[in-house]
Amino acid sequence: MPTGCFCYILSDHYSYLNQYGSTVATKKKKSLAVYPGSFDPVTNGHLSLVERAIHLFDELVVAVSMSSGKNTLFDFEERIQLMTCALKNKSYGAKVRVVGFEGLLADLAKELKAVAIIRGLRAISDFEYEFQMALMNRKLAREAETVFLMPALSWVYLSSTIVKDVARHGGDVSDLVPANVRKALDKKLGRSNKKKK
Ligand code: PNS
Repeated sequence: MPTGCFCYILSDHYSYLNQYGSTVATKKKKSLAVYPGSFDPVTNGHLSLVERAIHLFDELVVAVSMSSGKNTLFDFEERIQLMTCALKNKSYGAKVRVVGFEGLLADLAKELKAVAIIRGLRAISDFEYEFQMALMNRKLAREAETVFLMPALSWVYLSSTIVKDVARHGGDVSDLVPANVRKALDKKLGRSNKKKK
């Protein structure tokens, strides 16, 4: 956007007045956000964040990290597949896509020309780690601002770790994760995939 010009927004286009006072319309740049995570596995809390993020940005790239220093239950391909399948049932179309990535998130954000990095904040306990990560990512990729979103209240207590723990001990997680993830957990943990009462 040229400096010194009066700028306003007309529907989904930016417009400005040139030096002769005529309105010049330029096409609005699409805003793309990246939502990174281990997603081991994707939960309803993650999906709640996707739902919120797509109302704020034109495009959302859900980026499954190959390695986050954690021992994952599901391998990289499985986590990508579980996320892809969970989102397929949501009919977001081309607005949302899933990618796998290795290396620095900041590099991916730059490559995608992301204007934002989406992270979920559930409780104060999340804050310190998220704060550190946001500041480091800001240093590495200035153009991408970290945006914290809260999941729906029903998922505030939810994490992939707690879901895996409940599932491992035979608890019912069918209200906490998408159906494909519940089936995958049952399969992975060697149990019948019948919905528990
Ligand atoms: O769901 P998680 O495990 O909290 O996600 C953490 C993740 C994958 C977003 C983070 O570990 C990450 O960005 N890893 C990629 C490597 C990287 O960029 N590390 C520096 C972060 S400041």
